Amino acid sequence: MPAAPPIPVLTIDGPSGSGKGTISRLIATRLGWHLLDSGALYRAVGYAASLAGIDLSDAAAVTRCAGHTCIGFRDPGDGGETRVLVGGVDVSSEIRTETCGAAASAIAAIPGVRAALLDKQRAFRTAPGLVADGRDMGTVIFPDAATKVFLTASAAERARRRHKQLKDKGLTVTLDDLLREIEARDTRDAERAVAPLKPAPDAVMLDTTGVPIETVVARILALLPGR
Ligand code: C5P
Repeated sequence: MPAAPPIPVLTIDGPSGSGKGTISRLIATRLGWHLLDSGALYRAVGYAASLAGIDLSDAAAVTRCAGHTCIGFRDPGDGGETRVLVGGVDVSSEIRTETCGAAASAIAAIPGVRAALLDKQRAFRTAPGLVADGRDMGTVIFPDAATKVFLTASAAERARRRHKQLKDKGLTVTLDDLLREIEARDTRDAERAVAPLKPAPDAVMLDTTGVPIETVVARILALLPGR
């Protein structure tokens, strides 16, 4: 019997504020595919470790925390953003702060944490398909994905987008602080030894600076085989 064709995966990687989250959600909805927001997993571990009073530079303790923390996702059923649960508690708002983003970026550099989250991420690959959003989706988690995209945008535009997102969520942060934090986080993500932020050799690069979301979505959809 011929082998079943692999479940299709579209990977969308890029730095913070490049539009990955919004674009991945729109495409997953459009295709009726599952969505993996891998950043939420790292944020959830960073949040759980901070809550437990663990020193984030203690690699062994954070790795144990990543292994034990029960992370869940729940579709609100109204087309809204997926809710993120840690130990059954909805922490969707708490994990979106820049403090939690920085904690996520710190613990994401620990090899044991990345290893603990590997199978959890691959388990999202179920029929009819998966849109995977992150930093290493195309390079490490789904290297065999048929379609890989790497989104970029200028740092100023990414800071403006994050600023609007956080303001819409009722969080206050200045644009200057945000720009500094985004640049620090991207440098750490790109320079770490394990699974650094970088495009897969076979990824299509898309600069989203000044490009309307709908145009980016259309360009990515056109890359999928058979479209
Ligand atoms: O995408 P998001 O901003 O939610 O990710 C938070 C942090 O989690 C990133 O800055 C990065 O350090 C880490 N991350 C990662 N690998 C991924 C997704 C996120 O290292 N696949």
